[in-house]
Amino acid sequence: MATATRSTPTTQELFEYIQRLFSAEDEFLEHLRHEALRAGMPEIWITPEQGAFLQVLLRAMQARFVLEIGTLAGYSAIMMARALPPDGKLITLEREAERVAFAAQMVRAAGLAERIELHHADARQWLRSFRPTVPLDFVFIDADKASYSQYLELVLPLVRIGGIICADNALAWGEIASASDDPDVQALQEFNLRMATHPQLQSCLVPLGDGMVLGIRRW
Ligand SMILES: C[S@@+](CC[C@H](N)C(=O)[O-])C[C@H]1O[C@@H](n2cnc3c(N)ncnc32)[C@H](O)[C@@H]1O
Repeated sequence: MATATRSTPTTQELFEYIQRLFSAEDEFLEHLRHEALRAGMPEIWITPEQGAFLQVLLRAMQARFVLEIGTLAGYSAIMMARALPPDGKLITLEREAERVAFAAQMVRAAGLAERIELHHADARQWLRSFRPTVPLDFVFIDADKASYSQYLELVLPLVRIGGIICADNALAWGEIASASDDPDVQALQEFNLRMATHPQLQSCLVPLGDGMVLGIRRW
């Protein structure tokens, strides 16, 4: 077989194969998705295989302290919290009150109320006064795209050396490599460039779901 010099494009068949074998979604999370849709929430949570990837990563780095920006229904928060040790902590931020209430109910039903701390807050304000007593192992950015670069600057000093900052939508719904005039696409292009060139980070992009960009803090 010839050596591949290009990534294999993810066809629908390959996508279904990946999801069938490598999914972090169980019956509880499937039910959560259905309830969230019934409650009128947009279908913008991470995909089940992105969840599996996050869980493997968190377990590999033995993460104990995680920050998530953008809770929505609590789907990714519950997935990530399940990969933490019993005394681990995940803080998640959400600015829409009804989403916070929904997620809080799901977090309780998942038996994770001790591990997940849910805050009804605008992350841009909340992070300015956040002074964790121990450094963060992992940050997952999945909120307003216009603020991604700002979130990077706010959280980087709070992450331990060897900790990871990860952001969703690195492929900007397929538009990341286009000359787009969509402000969200432009914000993601700027953010990816910062992640790729930041002197304190070594970064990579994993094309799962809508793409995840990850940077490990080097110093
Ligand atoms: C893509 S969804 C999060 C999905 C979630 N991480 C998951 O995969 O299950 C983005 C969420 O971020 C919230 N959000 C947007 N801007 C925010 C801000 N400035 N502060 C806090 N939450 C914000 C939105 O209300 C929305 O619920």
